[in-house]
Amino acid sequence: MNFSNILIKWYLQNKRDLPWRKTTNPYHIWLSEIMLQQTRVAQGTPYFFAFTEEFPTVFDLANASEEQVLKLWQGLGYYSRARNLHKTAQYVANDLKGVFPDAYKELLKLKGVGEYTAAAIASFSYNEAVPVVDGNVFRVLSRYFDVESDISLPATKKEFTELAHELMPKDNPAIFNQAIMEFGALQCVPKSPDCPVCVFNDSCAALQKKKVAVLPVKSKKLKVTNRFFNYLILEDVLGNTSIQKRTAKGIWHNLYEFPLLETTEIVGFDVVSKAVQNDVFPSYSILSIEECIETTVIHKLSHQHLHIQFWKVKIAEVIESGLNTSELKTFPFPIVIYNFIEKKFELEV
Ligand code: ADE
Repeated sequence: MNFSNILIKWYLQNKRDLPWRKTTNPYHIWLSEIMLQQTRVAQGTPYFFAFTEEFPTVFDLANASEEQVLKLWQGLGYYSRARNLHKTAQYVANDLKGVFPDAYKELLKLKGVGEYTAAAIASFSYNEAVPVVDGNVFRVLSRYFDVESDISLPATKKEFTELAHELMPKDNPAIFNQAIMEFGALQCVPKSPDCPVCVFNDSCAALQKKKVAVLPVKSKKLKVTNRFFNYLILEDVLGNTSIQKRTAKGIWHNLYEFPLLETTEIVGFDVVSKAVQNDVFPSYSILSIEECIETTVIHKLSHQHLHIQFWKVKIAEVIESGLNTSELKTFPFPIVIYNFIEKKFELEV
């Protein structure tokens, strides 16, 4: 048997029962694929159910507010995906009368839909013979065929796309695409794959040459920046607090947060106290400042590691449009802040 037949046979015996595999509805396929970028299946699945329940059609998603969409997306990360999702839903609902494009080239024109997502929708919904190429596919093919090309380079993407296209049975591209991703997710995993039980253990080039651990080759390592956030949890005389919307471009665009004091390193009470009184809240009478949790929370994003401290700042005034805890929870927050609100934030209402 050749590579594709073995792969598909393995898939039929080992595939997970996933909700988006039971449909060819392009709206559902699109939703699932946007969610599953940079997100594991176990984490993404509850969001898929929540979105399809709350927004059964692309019109429902289009008619929601961005804030509703971000709130339901809360915790999935990479929030630009949610904002693009919403804009694209509006475009499909309003300009395309709710009908998704049915060809790879047309799908590519949608905001937030790149080569990978366009190929997934085109193959899963319309059986177009276009291969998906994601991290799983790079890993499986680079190992099986011992391809040492650097996967950080655009030319390598093209090389793997051509290879996958050659391998793909043209009468069933959908199953090949699902199979190769599933094989990368379950069997040909990044670290310490269980090669002795693999269906390819007599034909995998990397296994024969003892190169499993070094493939795929990736030269560019992400440069990570450290940032130091001090969130200031105001508490006024009514027990209310205050939040702001992050309108600047960059992380967490259009999500909410507490007033923020960003510093160049982890700071202590003296620095925070001085900045709060002089710079951040000069017009408030500060009654007390205390750190809410003893340890700094480290929240890792793809390019940034955030070192977050939370400080409770009691003031003698009443905050205009202050919020109590239950009002607070209705806003979309970065998950690290929402977790803080859930676990540690006890306003005296
Ligand atoms: N990751 C991305 N797309 C996927 C899919 N369709 N099934 C399982 N995992 C995936």
